[in-house]
Amino acid sequence: MLTRFIFSFIILNTASAEFNYKLFQVTATTFEQKRALINLSKSTSNEFVETSKVYSLTDLVLVPFEFVNATEDYFITRGMTYEFLDPRDVLPATTFHSKHEKFSYNDFYESQIVHKSIIKMVNCSASKPDSPVRAEIFSFGSTYLKKSMLAFRLGRKDVDKEKSPVILIDATIHGNEWIGPPAAHKIIEQLLFNATGHELMKKFDIIVAPIVNRDGYDESLNSFHPYIHGRKNRKPTKDGCLLRRNEGTDINRNFDWFWNSTELTENPCSENFRGEYPNSEPETIALSKLMETSKLIFYYTIHSYGNLILYPYGNTDEKVHNFENMRKVALAGKDAMESTFEIEKPYKVGSSLEILRRTSGASKDYAAGKLKIPISLIHEVGGRRPDSQPRVEDIKTYVDIVWTGFTAMANKVAELEL
Ligand SMILES: *[C@@H]1O[C@H](CO)[C@@H](O)[C@H](O)[C@H]1NC(C)=O
Ligand SMILES: *[C@@H]1O[C@H](CO)[C@@H](O)[C@H](O)[C@H]1NC(C)=O
Ligand SMILES: *[C@@H]1O[C@H](CO)[C@@H](O)[C@H](O)[C@H]1NC(C)=O
Ligand SMILES: *[C@@H]1O[C@H](CO)[C@@H](O)[C@H](O)[C@H]1NC(C)=O
Ligand SMILES: *[C@@H]1O[C@H](CO)[C@@H](O)[C@H](O)[C@H]1NC(C)=O
Ligand SMILES: [Zn+2]
Repeated sequence: MLTRFIFSFIILNTASAEFNYKLFQVTATTFEQKRALINLSKSTSNEFVETSKVYSLTDLVLVPFEFVNATEDYFITRGMTYEFLDPRDVLPATTFHSKHEKFSYNDFYESQIVHKSIIKMVNCSASKPDSPVRAEIFSFGSTYLKKSMLAFRLGRKDVDKEKSPVILIDATIHGNEWIGPPAAHKIIEQLLFNATGHELMKKFDIIVAPIVNRDGYDESLNSFHPYIHGRKNRKPTKDGCLLRRNEGTDINRNFDWFWNSTELTENPCSENFRGEYPNSEPETIALSKLMETSKLIFYYTIHSYGNLILYPYGNTDEKVHNFENMRKVALAGKDAMESTFEIEKPYKVGSSLEILRRTSGASKDYAAGKLKIPISLIHEVGGRRPDSQPRVEDIKTYVDIVWTGFTAMANKVAELEL
């Protein structure tokens, strides 16, 4: 509640020079000073803006005027240095989002609004007897906070569901990657209403899970610092973290594929925490099960950012099974996107280890390594920092880019003999 209150206050006042809060940038160097910062963060008289990393030296703390003097004293008596920043220079403008409106591609919306809008489109399509599309809406699990994880299975009425190869698309495994929900919404919209989508479903049934990490996503939309908050799910870690918001598991490190084989994921309070054991999270379990859908031929997972299409693996430089074909599919996506749009930064194609960094327990690696799904790719959408939360004016273009890339890749999958 405090977060929301401060949040709306800042939005209302960005135009004026007046703030009821002061933003401290404080530096803690000794262990004692770090502990003191952590103590402070538990107080309700302030809101830490940027402090996800327990081991970081510098934090941003937003403090209401009435507590400013006391906070200065607190820092001074502990020998900590600080300065004041202008919140408008620091708090990202993109944290502004609509809460209670109808979905559009002009803003970001809470998971419930995104789902409602998709259900409405499916209903609208179902009410048209001449539509070639058959659609199913189902829940494939529930999050730690007991929110329903929805998926949409679309196909053609004139194609036998049992015989059709299946594509599984998911988005928003990382809750702070906000392009996921609108990108998934766009794909479903095109499949329901666009001739290109109708053509594609002659070849495949397509399952879309728009918001895997609903808890993290909704948390991220309402937080000060979406770059950090909400990437992970919201299930508290066993021993807790010194800061509550650092708790949770990175779902994309929790899959049962060389789990815990890369060191980054050891710290439970890091943003890459791999969970207590493989498949320990309700979201991971639900998505793993969904991946067992019969005749699954292509797993496509939407993340941001980087303008990358990556195939497995993240944990080894060994070639993935079907390497040549995965590469061809990824390149088809790159070519289509770059020939249709002015892409600000050319797409890179490769394995996630070679292009990004060493990781383990990722969904696409599990899909390929464990389940032997023929094609498994991750799409990192957006080339500009911080495109995890793109500017609202870029949403429309990015979702079109995703649709174009996805259709090219799916058509390439159909063309290959898999
Ligand atoms: C932090 O809080 C704990 C418990 O309230 C207290 O024992 C400890 O002295 C505090 N540490 C600092 C550095 O303020
Ligand atoms: C903070 O200190 C300044 C001067 O040191 C004083 O003028 C101001 O009233 C104090 N504010 C509060 C809320 O105590
Ligand atoms: C969709 O249709 C179902 C069944 O007709 C109805 O219960 C539901 O309220 C509709 N949802 C929306 C969002 O239109
Ligand atoms: C349908 O998709 C095609 C190809 O992606 C696109 O050119 C066209 O604008 C889309 N039509 C609508 C109504 O969205
Ligand atoms: C994870 O890996 C680290 C480093 O190899 C190891 O020390 C630790 O015991 C492992 N944890 C679990 C739960 O397997
Ligand atoms: Zn991600």
